[in-house]
Amino acid sequence: MTRGTTNPNRLRRMDRWITAAHGAELRRAAHPVAIDLGYGAAPWTAVELLRRLRTAAPRTRVVGVEIDPARVVAARPYEREGLRFRHGGFEVPVEGRPTLIRAANVLRQYDEDEVAEVWERLRARLAPATGASRGGLLVEGTCDEIGRRHVWVALGPEGPRTVTFATRLGSLERPSDLAERLPKALIHRNVPGEAVHTFLRDFDRAWAAAAPYASYGARQRWIRTVHTLAADWPVRDGVSRWRQGEVTVAWEALAPRC
Ligand SMILES: C[S@@+](CC[C@H](N)C(=O)[O-])C[C@H]1O[C@@H](n2cnc3c(N)ncnc32)[C@H](O)[C@@H]1O
Repeated sequence: MTRGTTNPNRLRRMDRWITAAHGAELRRAAHPVAIDLGYGAAPWTAVELLRRLRTAAPRTRVVGVEIDPARVVAARPYEREGLRFRHGGFEVPVEGRPTLIRAANVLRQYDEDEVAEVWERLRARLAPATGASRGGLLVEGTCDEIGRRHVWVALGPEGPRTVTFATRLGSLERPSDLAERLPKALIHRNVPGEAVHTFLRDFDRAWAAAAPYASYGARQRWIRTVHTLAADWPVRDGVSRWRQGEVTVAWEALAPRC
């Protein structure tokens, strides 16, 4: 049991990215279902996920799933068309295969060596890839209490795909400020010899080199920084995402060495 800390609007950056990265899959799905796994002591993030996903895929339904039964009882009055709450855990107690499973600030309370098995269980629940679709998406990550700093891993049925760093640029001193929000699979790997440590070092160096751009604003400095970073690291997105204070990198480049 945990306190179930959550906050309204806390996961807006993640919701925005999911809508952009996965909206087309949700639109294409015959029965698009998104799971907010471990929504916490109040149902805000599930209510918001429904609203935001529906801007891209109006038929989407959201199911909030919580391991703490009292939190399910507390959430029930917020049920509405397209939104349900269920008691359960990593088995994901819904019929069929979800198009999206989002687990934010859930695995931080587990041990690092449990992550691979949890990822595997959740991936096995995702809608499978077909000729026309890459399949469902699992988004698992961590953020601060008011959602200014966020890092998440996106996984498909086939395995991990990307790592996304997202931040409110106005409050950023240097990119490695995000290190304290690395997901469980990476947070203990931010040590010399591990790829994520090298990446954050390079990110800070590029940020320092881009300091003259700060006079045009933190956004311009971030865009310049990511341009530089992309010369050596497999950055998977483009300027339209960088403008939001994001960057997405291939998982393989940051994965733990062993
Ligand atoms: C820190 S809260 C996060 C709330 C919300 N996702 C957010 O980011 O604001 C973590 C929640 O995950 C729930 N949880 C932990 N393990 C779980 C599991 N295996 N299945 C479902 N919920 C779980 C806890 O009961 C807690 O309410």
